[in-house]
Amino acid sequence: MSFGAGIHFCIGAPLARLEMEIALPLLFERLPKLTLASPPRCRDTYHFHGLERLDVGF
Ligand code: HEM
Repeated sequence: MSFGAGIHFCIGAPLARLEMEIALPLLFERLPKLTLASPPRCRDTYHFHGLERLDVGF
């Protein structure tokens, strides 16, 4: 559901997926010790439910 559903399905989903396929392996290669520094905090919103902040350590 990250990209929505139905007629408003994310038009940029293929691009976003491609970018993540490139960026995430690079990120984990460069920061192999990347870890959560505190529990993820979600924004208290209805639309575009997502993270307010994600503290990481490396
Ligand atoms: C990880 C990255 C992304 C996520 C999680 C994401 C998520 C979403 C979601 C959930 C929706 C549906 C919103 C709704 O139903 O109201 C949406 C719509 C949309 N997204 Fe994305 N998106 C991402 C990246 C992109 C990119 C890179 C583009 C453009 C280059 C883009 C362009 C759009 C557009 C134009 C819509 C509106 C589609 C419509 O209303 O028919 N998104 N996105």
